[in-house]
Amino acid sequence: MSASVLSVVVMGGSSGIGEATATLFAAEGAEVVITGRSQEKLDAALARIGGKTSAHRLDASDPAQIAAFFGQSQTVDHLVIAVSGSAGSGPFATLDPAHLAAGFDGKFWPYVHILQAALPHLAADGSVTLVTAGSARAAFPGTVGLAAINGALEAMVPPLAVELAPRRFNAVSPGVIDTAWWDAVPAEQRKELFDGLAATTPVGRVGRAEEVAAAIHMLARNGFITGTVLDVTGGTNLPSGR
Ligand SMILES: NC(=O)c1ccc[n+]([C@@H]2O[C@H](COP(=O)([O-])OP(=O)(O)OC[C@H]3O[C@@H](n4cnc5c(N)ncnc54)[C@H](OP(=O)(O)O)[C@@H]3O)[C@@H](O)[C@H]2O)c1
Repeated sequence: MSASVLSVVVMGGSSGIGEATATLFAAEGAEVVITGRSQEKLDAALARIGGKTSAHRLDASDPAQIAAFFGQSQTVDHLVIAVSGSAGSGPFATLDPAHLAAGFDGKFWPYVHILQAALPHLAADGSVTLVTAGSARAAFPGTVGLAAINGALEAMVPPLAVELAPRRFNAVSPGVIDTAWWDAVPAEQRKELFDGLAATTPVGRVGRAEEVAAAIHMLARNGFITGTVLDVTGGTNLPSGR
């Protein structure tokens, strides 16, 4: 590694999968920077994560804020991109292209802008891990838009890994994970949805942020894995033969 103390940036690190990932790196003594839009969420996450962690408020949908952040950043050993978009789902026949475009603006383009701005600061033996989504290769009705957004990101991983070697590029592709991402769904409806999904998931439940974080941490720390998209879905994406 480029330094004895690892430098880690988790974009979207104030909640859910990003926060759990920051917690793992902080626990092993890394200098972690988490980003997000809400200062309140960043402050609360900092208090939970502890260690040598700091926060930087930015809106990842604004390329200028991303450029300003990386412009002042030192060498980054591991970059994790866990920014969440929320738009882009719904039945395809009535999917407003403007809504789909908003979905790309909320996740695809921020990831692209972050990747480009971070590159000059990424250690030669460093890594980038994208958080995509199982919807990229599943076939759930109502997820055509999410499949397009996350599928586009997943398709970028192998060529990024070759074009920008020896820096490593991987993705984790989560199934349904119980995080604040689902807060927009009323509690009772969410429980019903999670129970229904648990019943059709081989491991019998939805996932936890810590389980995705462990996969991200492994991909970042294993110097011989690159160009890989790792499913963390509890088996929901496996063909059932039915
Ligand atoms: N939870 C799931 O079931 C699931 C499934 C598949 C894939 N994923 C993916 O996993 C990733 C992490 O999601 P999560 O479940 O951990 O969600 P989460 O708990 O809502 O965390 C999202 C993080 O991203 C930040 N964020 C959102 N929009 C941002 C923006 N425009 N600029 C900067 N930061 C922004 C949030 O902070 P602020 O709100 O303060 O900005 C927060 O820190 C996302 O890419 C999501 O699509 C989640």
